[in-house]
Amino acid sequence: MELRESLGLHVDVKTSEDGKSFILEQQPATEFRYTELYIAKLSSTGDGIGVDKLDDGTTEIVVVPYSIPGDLVKAKIYKCLEHYSLADLEAVLSGGDARDDSLVRCKYFTKCAGCQLQMLPYEEQLRHKREVIVRAYKNFCEVSDGVIPAIGDTIGSPLEYGYRTKLTPHFDVPRNSHVPTVTPIGFTQKGRSFVIDIEECPIGTPAINEAYKKERIRVRDNIHSYKRGATLLLRESLEMDETTNETKKSVCVDSKDTVTEYVNRYRFKYPAGDFFQCNSSVLPRVTEYVNSQLKLRVFNNEYEPLPAPKYLVDAYCGSGLFSITCNESVEEVIGVEISPKSVACATSNAQDNNIANAEFVLGDAAVIFMKIRTPSNETSMILDPPRKGCDNNFLNQLLDYLPRRIVYVSCNVHTQARDLGYILNDRRGLKYHVNSIRGFDFFPQTHHVESVAVLTLQD
Ligand SMILES: C[S@@+](CC[C@H](N)C(=O)[O-])C[C@H]1O[C@@H](n2cnc3c(N)ncnc32)[C@H](O)[C@@H]1O
Repeated sequence: MELRESLGLHVDVKTSEDGKSFILEQQPATEFRYTELYIAKLSSTGDGIGVDKLDDGTTEIVVVPYSIPGDLVKAKIYKCLEHYSLADLEAVLSGGDARDDSLVRCKYFTKCAGCQLQMLPYEEQLRHKREVIVRAYKNFCEVSDGVIPAIGDTIGSPLEYGYRTKLTPHFDVPRNSHVPTVTPIGFTQKGRSFVIDIEECPIGTPAINEAYKKERIRVRDNIHSYKRGATLLLRESLEMDETTNETKKSVCVDSKDTVTEYVNRYRFKYPAGDFFQCNSSVLPRVTEYVNSQLKLRVFNNEYEPLPAPKYLVDAYCGSGLFSITCNESVEEVIGVEISPKSVACATSNAQDNNIANAEFVLGDAAVIFMKIRTPSNETSMILDPPRKGCDNNFLNQLLDYLPRRIVYVSCNVHTQARDLGYILNDRRGLKYHVNSIRGFDFFPQTHHVESVAVLTLQD
């Protein structure tokens, strides 16, 4: 989409209902075709895109994973879609300025679909992720010029490798179990639907990789007992002796096991199969940032500093990550969450951390508007929805309530940009000022970026 736009071509792009993908009509596959082309852009999914000049004088947009702008590549085109073609990277004939192949740490890079950016220096990855946010707001948030502030620099992860505290490798079972093949256990091959055998994953923590070795042996030894394939779960848990501060890591492989994790001085417990952020090294930076934004003081029209809101509503609160880490900035916290298990965890996590000013409500996020007793001009709301973003029912009730401050944390900047557009274009939301938008890198080496937008209602 970015490339088409920069070429001045019009294209209708719609997001699917779950907000996870863009819907583009697929054409029948053509025969393989080899070509050489320069890569012009890096897409928001971390794939290089270039323009191929065909013999008949027409041009074709080609997506080449694992390539970066400035690369001259040999590519094998294997699928033609309505607006572009998909290719495999055959070779980098000459590298773009930012390419540094000595940085690649994974022998499966260019095959495994998990990482896209290992050949880019980390500063370049962060710069690219900022650009993804800039483009998302340009394409999905239609507001007047100047409403969206300059996007801030992306805050990096302290760990660039060895950070993932959760891995979910999978395997398929051979149809004919008598055939003596070794079952691949690993991750999906880029652009294909089959699993490739992967022995270790350098973005996983060392403890996770150790446990993964054992899980691979266990599965292989018992492969004939599986009727169908499965997804394995590996989730790191950290036990701390709170008198000596000594820590011990273990890895849970059963979704019902309880994981323990520390964010700053707060302890969180949750079932291994439930949602919790999977890069613990970056969580102190994110939670401190969200906390600082809740405390942000703004000026009224007479330039008098106004106090920060006193109350906090944490919508989509999960096991209470933000409710708990931000509780000291406010007098009262109320969290809402649709998963009963997560609400139970949030409640017991608050008790476990001796937090008395937080309560948690079970239900769709929109139910919170029936329960809020705090005055809206003294209340902040944290929104941290799943990838599909907030629905219109929630946003309309938010616009009726008009919290003083909104801190919108999102793992999908495209749906976040869409939702901010909805708020800012509604007559009820006209008084919101966007204080800041910036990314946090929860997943180095991959295309993912978490985006945090802060809005304050002006008098
Ligand atoms: C991205 S997670 C964020 C959780 C938490 N803020 C954290 O960082 O750990 C989104 C959460 O929203 C919950 N959720 C999904 N749909 C919801 C809805 N309609 N209403 C309330 N919560 C919902 C999910 O169960 C999940 O816990």
